[in-house]
Amino acid sequence: MDIVKNIHEVREKVGAARRQGKRIGFVPTMGYLHEGHLSLVRESAKSTQYQVMSIFVNRIQFNDPKDFASYPKDLERDFDLARSAGVDLMFVPDEGEMYRDNLTYVDVKTLTDNLCGAHRPGHFRGVFTVVSKLFNIVQPDISVFGQKDIQQVVSIQKMTRDLDFPIEIVIAPIIRENDGLAMSSRNKHLNSDQRNRALSINRSIRKAESMIMAGERRVPVIRAEIEKVLMEGSPESVDYISAVRFSDLSLCETIDGRSVIAVAAFFGSTRLIDNMIIDFANGGPRCVY
Ligand code: PAJ
Repeated sequence: MDIVKNIHEVREKVGAARRQGKRIGFVPTMGYLHEGHLSLVRESAKSTQYQVMSIFVNRIQFNDPKDFASYPKDLERDFDLARSAGVDLMFVPDEGEMYRDNLTYVDVKTLTDNLCGAHRPGHFRGVFTVVSKLFNIVQPDISVFGQKDIQQVVSIQKMTRDLDFPIEIVIAPIIRENDGLAMSSRNKHLNSDQRNRALSINRSIRKAESMIMAGERRVPVIRAEIEKVLMEGSPESVDYISAVRFSDLSLCETIDGRSVIAVAAFFGSTRLIDNMIIDFANGGPRCVY
């Protein structure tokens, strides 16, 4: 695995791989890697021959400076994990390499109105800006993102079409701990009591699944049950429990087409998110979480 810090080195290495006829896959991350991140590389390797990963804790997407300051880091461990997952090129720019005197930002309207967008002002603008820059630096054929951050990946698909990036955006499944907690770099901040209580998120989503499979379609009814189960874990606060249409992430009152049910809550001072896609293809419904 090559590890590079400069944009021109990325261009050189990727250019060389391309001249060998390889297709390029790209997984952007903020590091402190876990199996969720590594699964994206494996997904990418199914259809590409050269794997690029970036690790960059992107200050401009943090609406809370304390969250940025405490974001977990362990680059040496990350390098070992990435190497073992088959990453060929690791890009670890510093802030000066990524942002010199940036006056340009990328935003996606409407899709960011609800869910996390409503609770983290400026967050998605920071995400879209850095992802656009990384796309231009790496110029991959495909880029893989996790369902875990559903609003992020749906908006990035739209951004990619709107800005004509010649890149296929792939959505990969949520990787979970054995007890159901969605893997996240921020889970490191949870003490054992908070971690235990946080299992109520996944339980609440599974409760919604069982209601939907039993025929319930009314969002207020489903939402009330999710809230009941979530509250069993006594979250410090709840940002949202929402149902949205998959296509445009607008809020919906009935689950009558491809939809997403998403939850965000704080345990201690750690903000956790989780979601489930409800699919009606091939006779559904099928809940994917
Ligand atoms: P980060 O939180 O490091 O996540 C990097 C990628 O890993 C994202 O696509 C995210 O959805 C995916 N991911 C995280 N947890 C996952 C899990 N449990 N299962 C599957 N995939 C998971 O998302 C970001 O970084 C940043 O916003 C970034 C896109 C890198 C821009 O800065």
